[in-house]
Amino acid sequence: MSLEAIRWKENKLEVLDQLLLPTSTEYIHVTNVEGGWQVINKMQVRGAPAIAIVGCLSLAAELVNSSYSSCPDLIKAVTEKLQYLVTARPTAVNMRKAADDMVTFMSEVQEKGITVEELKSKIISRCESMLAIDVDTNKKIGSFGAQSILGNSNAKKVKVLTHCNTGSLATAGYGTALGVIRSLHAQGSLDHAYCTETRPYNQGARLTAFELVFESIPSTLICDSMAASLMKSKEIDAVVVGADRVTRNGDTANKIGTYQLAVVAKYHEVPFYVCAPITSIDTSLLSGESIPIEERPHKEMTEVAGVRIAAPGISCWNPAFDVTPAALVTGGIVTELGVFKPSEMYEKIKSQAS
Ligand code: MRU
Repeated sequence: MSLEAIRWKENKLEVLDQLLLPTSTEYIHVTNVEGGWQVINKMQVRGAPAIAIVGCLSLAAELVNSSYSSCPDLIKAVTEKLQYLVTARPTAVNMRKAADDMVTFMSEVQEKGITVEELKSKIISRCESMLAIDVDTNKKIGSFGAQSILGNSNAKKVKVLTHCNTGSLATAGYGTALGVIRSLHAQGSLDHAYCTETRPYNQGARLTAFELVFESIPSTLICDSMAASLMKSKEIDAVVVGADRVTRNGDTANKIGTYQLAVVAKYHEVPFYVCAPITSIDTSLLSGESIPIEERPHKEMTEVAGVRIAAPGISCWNPAFDVTPAALVTGGIVTELGVFKPSEMYEKIKSQAS
């Protein structure tokens, strides 16, 4: 059994409340787009692929119980709802791409001549299909990433470090960077996985550690500030991270702290991999300078589990993501199409990316 962050059964959407993990496992019933926007914005579900899937399935759940008088009316309503979902969290590009792709899909289907009910059912099916596609994509990423790491190392069993949470909880299942770790483990090639705590919101300590223990993967939690010491003393073979948005040149926005890991990895000559589906690659942006970086509420930094730990009165800066320059992505960008150097990625994937 694997962890299920997103459940879609008989037109009913349930989302695992990740803010309660690891102490409690509770699902939230999401019935409409407003509910989808809320669970994404509050980070009850998070991780770039999961954000897009939950956003689209919240739309599907709403459509099931809605009726529209014509295809243009339906298309207009769906387009507006998708645009609203895009605003829930601005850095990950997956929801925006899912919205753009749905708008193109709706207009192509409408041109073929179709009833409003048929169009509605095709929209719902398209949202549902994102679940299986994502798992399939992640398995390919896992396999390509594992192969590349083993090819770059002399060790039979490798030690890897990861950051934030990129596993079953951040996707429809299996995971991206954590999928690579899963794949290494499945083929008996993982010596040890290290995960960072991932301050300020502790996705590593709360979620990745939970997944690693759940899957019985040999693993150790470290504080973010221990990464340099770890690389110096433990012969780490690779750093694997996910992405919220990769730009055309390979610059990568990911969880705050990713950039400093990449700097430290470069110093210690540890290959640094970004693992991302094509849906996280934004070819419309030439470089990471244009990526919008979300700033989160101060209390996610000043409090731990609702208890204030920071001195009252101190001001805070709480960006949720940073941008790692392509030059530091030394291992490569692991996609479902293969592993690419940042400089070659765009040419290799452009026919499949939008
Ligand atoms: O703020 P979060 O928890 O949504 O950030 C998640 C990350 O940064 C992940 O690395 C990224 O979304 C990829 S998830 C496969």
